[in-house]
Amino acid sequence: MGKEIFQEVYPFTTEVISGYFNELDFKDKSVMTLGSSSDQAFNALLLGAKKITVYDINENTAKFGKLKRDVILNSTLDNVWINVIRIDMPKNYDLFPKESLMKMNPYMKDEKSFKKLQGLLKTRFNDIEYRVGNIMEVNNLDNEFFDIIITSNVFQYLEEYINPGENPYDRLKEVFNKLKEHLTDDGIIQLLYHYAFNRTSHWDTCASRNLIMVLNTIYPDVLSFVEFDGTTSQKDCAFIYKKKR
Ligand SMILES: C[S@@+](CC[C@H](N)C(=O)[O-])C[C@H]1O[C@@H](n2cnc3c(N)ncnc32)[C@H](O)[C@@H]1O
Repeated sequence: MGKEIFQEVYPFTTEVISGYFNELDFKDKSVMTLGSSSDQAFNALLLGAKKITVYDINENTAKFGKLKRDVILNSTLDNVWINVIRIDMPKNYDLFPKESLMKMNPYMKDEKSFKKLQGLLKTRFNDIEYRVGNIMEVNNLDNEFFDIIITSNVFQYLEEYINPGENPYDRLKEVFNKLKEHLTDDGIIQLLYHYAFNRTSHWDTCASRNLIMVLNTIYPDVLSFVEFDGTTSQKDCAFIYKKKR
């Protein structure tokens, strides 16, 4: 598996962004984030980010981002979900109901947040830059530094990107070290997002789910975590690295 995957955009996030974005201080920060739905980027903008780079392997991400921005500007909170779904582009149908997304996606929380995002998308959409890149190689980044790097749940797919016989933890270490090189002094990386962390799940066989191995891999660096209500009755978790000077 490689570049040919993930070429269908996600209409909306599949994560409880409200569960961990509020734990991060986005005010005036430069952010790099994955996310072909643009939801991570739009929420970072809502929470005060200064500049956002959407870094995603999906070559349709920029086109979808612009279309979604126009749809948001011409929608109400009530009809934005259906209007986004109607955007005519190849889409992944890993899609949550509107009621769930209103809890997951901070800009859909209430009228006030939605209107605030509309205002920001009118005046500051140019502060979002779209870049095609593969985070498993950390390619297509120059000498750039970010205060916050959001990797979404991409490391759950780590094994699908490595070469036959390659140790997934070796690749994780390589990627982690490269990402650290793009962090500002007090920068942070949201490295893992684990769905249904409090119960057994089909994700349990993923290398990134084995926390002892992950922690061994990044040692002496450490991760903190934040746990929050997931989309059903489970708990989701985000694991965060904070750079020490
Ligand atoms: C793993 S997917 C799942 C959706 C995600 N949970 C969300 O809320 O948007 C996350 C995003 O990572 C992107 N992606 C997957 N593999 C990637 C890679 N190797 N490099 C960069 N982006 C990648 C996908 O295109 C998608 O937009």
